[in-house]
Amino acid sequence: EEYEVEEEHSWTPVQKASMYGGGFFVGLFALYFFTLYLPSYFIPEATDLVAIKKVSQLDVALTPLAGGTSVALGDYTTLGFDSEYSEQSSKKRNVNRIIMVGDVHAHYTQFRKLLNKVKYNKKNDHLLLLGDFITKGPDSRKILDYLIANDVDCILGNHEYYALQNYATFHGLDQPSFEFNGTIEKFLGDGSSFLVKDGFNDDPEFLIAKKLEPEHVQYINNCSIIKKLGTMPLQKSKGGANGVAVHAGIRWDLDLQDQDPIDNLEMRSLIGPYFNETTSDPDVEDSVSWSKIFNMKQKEKSAHDKDLTVVYYGHDARRGLNLKQYTKGLDSGCDRGDKLTAMVVWAELSRSKKGSHQIVYKEEPVQIHC
Ligand SMILES: *[C@@H]1O[C@H](CO)[C@@H](O)[C@H](O)[C@H]1NC(C)=O
Ligand SMILES: *[C@@H]1O[C@H](CO)[C@@H](O)[C@H](O)[C@H]1NC(C)=O
Ligand SMILES: *[C@@H]1O[C@H](CO)[C@@H](O)[C@H](O)[C@H]1NC(C)=O
Repeated sequence: EEYEVEEEHSWTPVQKASMYGGGFFVGLFALYFFTLYLPSYFIPEATDLVAIKKVSQLDVALTPLAGGTSVALGDYTTLGFDSEYSEQSSKKRNVNRIIMVGDVHAHYTQFRKLLNKVKYNKKNDHLLLLGDFITKGPDSRKILDYLIANDVDCILGNHEYYALQNYATFHGLDQPSFEFNGTIEKFLGDGSSFLVKDGFNDDPEFLIAKKLEPEHVQYINNCSIIKKLGTMPLQKSKGGANGVAVHAGIRWDLDLQDQDPIDNLEMRSLIGPYFNETTSDPDVEDSVSWSKIFNMKQKEKSAHDKDLTVVYYGHDARRGLNLKQYTKGLDSGCDRGDKLTAMVVWAELSRSKKGSHQIVYKEEPVQIHC
């Protein structure tokens, strides 16, 4: 029997050369497609960072309510208020309520549930988030889209700061800096354990930072470290106190503009004997919660001191809802399945026995289960 043997095809040198050449270009294209084109298709374009504001002022004022309705601005002076108050409020957007919310941590559904419960009304309320609204939970981008669409006000939290740091690393930008009264403080170098050094990292902040669109970054970057709130309610006192909002805490022994922003983002306790050094670890020896020291120091001041300060903050889920006279801790652990808290603040007109009017500041915490 004979077998037909197929004759082996032989390529000419020219055919071989053009085959290798073609293969080379296909390979080159594949390399470009998978390493440059495809990733850039999914990676949002970069936006430059601006210096983070260390201290800013809330641009709204509370309109006092009388019998459930708000009082027209022009009526303040006829009602016998000091002109300073009317002058202050006439420069700002007037709202009926200021609503501050503790650490949301990307739990969008719970956040919306809380807003429904307080009957949040964009027109009459000023909503201020006390930081850590992204990361840990499932919906960081959804939260950001909502905050942007509704013009919600924010305080920077440590997790937003870490996201900005990672964003800068990922896109090869300068690390975020801080600004007060026109003076820029360069990146402080250390103080944060979360700074990512290279691009290959599965840190959750890094994974979120990679996906942030320019509008998300600009929103986060515009949150202040500290916000002065104007007059806020003070338990056991009619007049109220200077309100301050911050994510983690403030040092009692420094003016607001002299605080270290990393302290404001991360502190939980102060270390003795002088309590002028912060730690984020509440188990450090000789340390006491910053809020305890802060309340002690405020109580040493006279009741008529113009510097009486009440601080609204988040960050400390372990200590939970923590309402003291001069400090209001609003991180009630939504991320670990506890609660999400809003502090609702408003002002009311009250008539004294002598017949004159005065403004009384009030507040009430509202919670939902997470
Ligand atoms: C802000 O800067 C101006 C001019 O540089 C200065 O006069 C003012 O005292 C500064 N304010 C604070 C609070 O540092
Ligand atoms: C930045 O935040 C302030 C309020 O603190 C707001 O008035 C301003 O519109 C914001 N700017 C941008 C670009 O979002
Ligand atoms: C804390 O206060 C003590 C005593 O006044 C001082 O020696 C020390 O340098 C201060 N530390 C800081 C971090 O300010």
